[in-house]
Amino acid sequence: MRRLVIFIFCLTFWLLAACGSGTSSGIEKQAVDSGISDVQALYEQRCATCHGLQGNMAMGGARKLTESALPKEEVLAQIRYGKGAMPPFREMLSEEEMTALADYVFTFRPTSKP
Ligand code: HEC
Repeated sequence: MRRLVIFIFCLTFWLLAACGSGTSSGIEKQAVDSGISDVQALYEQRCATCHGLQGNMAMGGARKLTESALPKEEVLAQIRYGKGAMPPFREMLSEEEMTALADYVFTFRPTSKP
């Protein structure tokens, strides 16, 4: 009887340990996912407050990205250095993130692509 208790105890412990390691690999995956592979989330976090989720909002003098006609280099420069009421992002975002966002804003335009 005592052996059975010990066995069950060990089994429970082993299962918990297995579950534990499962969660930790989940966290690692999340860290990878939070990279620029999720540019939409990055946009929602950094840009949507002023430009709207669909790029069609113009809060506090911001431009509608759906109506923007800037070429990619200027979009990138504006994300990097800011303009007017738009803050510069070069110290908050990596080069890869800014480039990904510059590409992303083109998805709001009805026709032109970068
Ligand atoms: C605090 C509000 C604010 C945030 C946050 C913001 N912007 Fe802006 N954005 C503006 C304003 C204001 C302008 C207009 C600047 C001007 O021309 O005077 C602008 C202009 C732009 C333009 C140029 C549009 C055009 O055709 O003139 C682009 C592209 C742009 N923003 C992209 C972004 C991206 C990408 C992000 C996120 C990384 C972002 N913005 C975050 C306020 C903001």
